[in-house]
Amino acid sequence: MTEGCLYQGDNLQILRRHVPDASVNLVYLDPPFNSNRVYSKPPRRSGGPKILGFDDTWRWDRAASDAFDELCDRGDNAKLTLILAAFRNALGAGDLLAYLTMMSTRLVELARVLKPSGSLYLHCDPTASHYLKVLLDVVMGPGTFQNEVIWRYRRWPTRANRFQRMHDVLLFYSKSDRGEHSFQTLYGYESLAPSTLKTFGTKKQLADFSSGHRKPSTLNEETLGPPLSDVWEVGVIAAIGKERTGWPTQKPEALLERVVRASSREGDIVLDPFCGSGTSLVVAHKLGRRFLGIDAAPLAIETARKRLENAGADARVVHKDPAVANVA
Ligand SMILES: C[S@@+](CC[C@H](N)C(=O)[O-])C[C@H]1O[C@@H](n2cnc3c(N)ncnc32)[C@H](O)[C@@H]1O
Repeated sequence: MTEGCLYQGDNLQILRRHVPDASVNLVYLDPPFNSNRVYSKPPRRSGGPKILGFDDTWRWDRAASDAFDELCDRGDNAKLTLILAAFRNALGAGDLLAYLTMMSTRLVELARVLKPSGSLYLHCDPTASHYLKVLLDVVMGPGTFQNEVIWRYRRWPTRANRFQRMHDVLLFYSKSDRGEHSFQTLYGYESLAPSTLKTFGTKKQLADFSSGHRKPSTLNEETLGPPLSDVWEVGVIAAIGKERTGWPTQKPEALLERVVRASSREGDIVLDPFCGSGTSLVVAHKLGRRFLGIDAAPLAIETARKRLENAGADARVVHKDPAVANVA
């Protein structure tokens, strides 16, 4: 049985044409961050030409303006129309609005394909996370926001007249606004605080309120440690790490492992509509989930396909969209 599919093409068209309503358990998306950069893959041999990965620059052009009008004309989400109009008034019709329009059209589709018990993680950074959170609040609806996860990493410092930027943001939303989303609390990633260890050792704590205030005591049972919090310290992929594929912006498997383990179960479907080198898909496979990956760049799909094959996954490239075949 095929465990998963890879689609090459624009995710908006592929989501609309190929992914049914309420069919996916977990969406993880790591889209371009509006970084105003063009990312390329390192040359295959030293001195060789760089290969274009993907373009993260945005312009307010005819396509952006049409997409904006189409969203506002749909009439099925009055609040989204209001927010987009407010963004347009406040920010003007420029690069940032083009980016937020591109994201809005995709977020509407991603909310549509999630199952009632499903969850969505949007990976971004502080360049646009504040705007994206407002969009998600509106698209996913009140009561669906679960966490703002901070991915804290260490990298070579840069010269700058501000604090070093060393974190990304994962915005976690559920489809349900009644806490009915699938979630497994994760243990074993964080250690007990030294003060806790001193007072309780490694035994499970018991909070006893019988005296009117909290009287801590311990059970004769080993603790699992603290449940994973919303600040994650995970190393970036080492320059010569064996996980590295060379795809620019590739994320570490250790990061995705937390997302996939917490918000899906064996056999569930994980969708990554900006899959790049396929990190989330490989992790989904290793944890016994099914996967669906989409990327506009043929080179990304080929990288993900090879990576899945090396991991022993049965992945098929099921669609090639000739309209975007020149992306990379
Ligand atoms: C930040 S990278 C994802 C990296 C990925 N998480 C990994 O670990 O390799 C963003 C990806 O989105 C893809 N992309 C950009 N616009 C797209 C679109 N409209 N449809 C599908 N993929 C798109 C790019 O080709 C790029 O591979």
